[in-house]
Amino acid sequence: MQIVSVVGARPQFVKLAPVNEGLSLLGVQHSIIHSGQHYDVDMSDALFQDFNLPEPTLNLGVGSGSHAQTTARILQRVDEALMRLGPDLVVVYGDTDTTVAAALAAVKRGFPLAHVEAGLRSFNRTMPEETNRILTDHAADLLFAPTETAMSNLVREGLEGRAVVTGDVMADICLRTAKRVREHPPDIDLPVEDFILATLHRPYNTDDPKRLSHIVTALSQMPIPVLLPAHPRLRARAKSAGISLKQGNIWLADPLDYSTLIFTAQASKAIVTDSGGLQKEAFLLGVPCTTIRTETEWPETLMGGWNELCFNFTSRNLIHCILRSKPVLSPESPFGDGTASQTITQILRNYVENGIR
Ligand code: UD1
Repeated sequence: MQIVSVVGARPQFVKLAPVNEGLSLLGVQHSIIHSGQHYDVDMSDALFQDFNLPEPTLNLGVGSGSHAQTTARILQRVDEALMRLGPDLVVVYGDTDTTVAAALAAVKRGFPLAHVEAGLRSFNRTMPEETNRILTDHAADLLFAPTETAMSNLVREGLEGRAVVTGDVMADICLRTAKRVREHPPDIDLPVEDFILATLHRPYNTDDPKRLSHIVTALSQMPIPVLLPAHPRLRARAKSAGISLKQGNIWLADPLDYSTLIFTAQASKAIVTDSGGLQKEAFLLGVPCTTIRTETEWPETLMGGWNELCFNFTSRNLIHCILRSKPVLSPESPFGDGTASQTITQILRNYVENGIR
């Protein structure tokens, strides 16, 4: 039996890690195709090393381009790769251009397809990820929904027959890593004891120079230091707009590997982000989060005020929102108990062996 996972962008390496571990515990042959969508050392290799992931069987080296160009290149190269490997089942993760392209490549060759993190919806069709999620869910044979909310989205689209609620693989890896870094902290100089962790990479925040300048100015005026590990898109767009990211109270850094990110998130007073993953990690680690977006595909994080959406803001109300007092921790996590990857990998093996879930 051979299962092939196709990944390509940073958040997918995070989701791949616990699934890879689960498959290896079951003794299933698991091959990894890396599309090459993310190629910088700290966006890709650093995560593979951090998670002890094996070298990808194939790296397709697609690099950057428009969404259509990236998707088309991945579709064509994954098609060729799948014909070489001849898997029993293909697994795709999340909502990137790699996800949708690999999903199409698999179904067009008739390989069974599973989608990890199915059913997420932001209901914002202007996000490229929203189209990617919907198309991938409708193409896949097995849909692994991380939460009940995700499942209800799939039910609404008539996909419940192929779907199962498994819990969230990102919660598996987040909780495990948080424990490990508490015991063995990574080597990083944090700015001071009280600091904010910020990340920014969504095109609607980075690609409009006026909006980007507004956000950067607001972060620079925070009363405590803001650690900003900058995504390549943010650096590139800031540079071309002539906006300095080293302003006021901002501490600029390179992207962090996962262990260091979790350590830093855990130690921070508050998190500001437009990342889907970090909103949820903030929730799981009990750190208040402010999300610079109009909506979230993780509405569970809004419960109890752990996450607040703040899109059109003044510096004053952003400071107020970020430094609000900590909500009361609810004992129940909507993201599962840290065993999602075990459930998923057992279902995958069963499906390949017996054709049933
Ligand atoms: C992609 C995903 C997004 C995910 C994010 C995580 C899609 C549609 N979007 O967005 O869902 O949250 O990854 O990071 O797939 N770049 C580099 N080096 C790299 C990677 C990117 O320099 O290793 C630069 C390139 O100029 C590229 C830009 O960053 O054009 C954006 O990268 P891209 O993969 O297109 O999208 P992300 O914004 O990273």
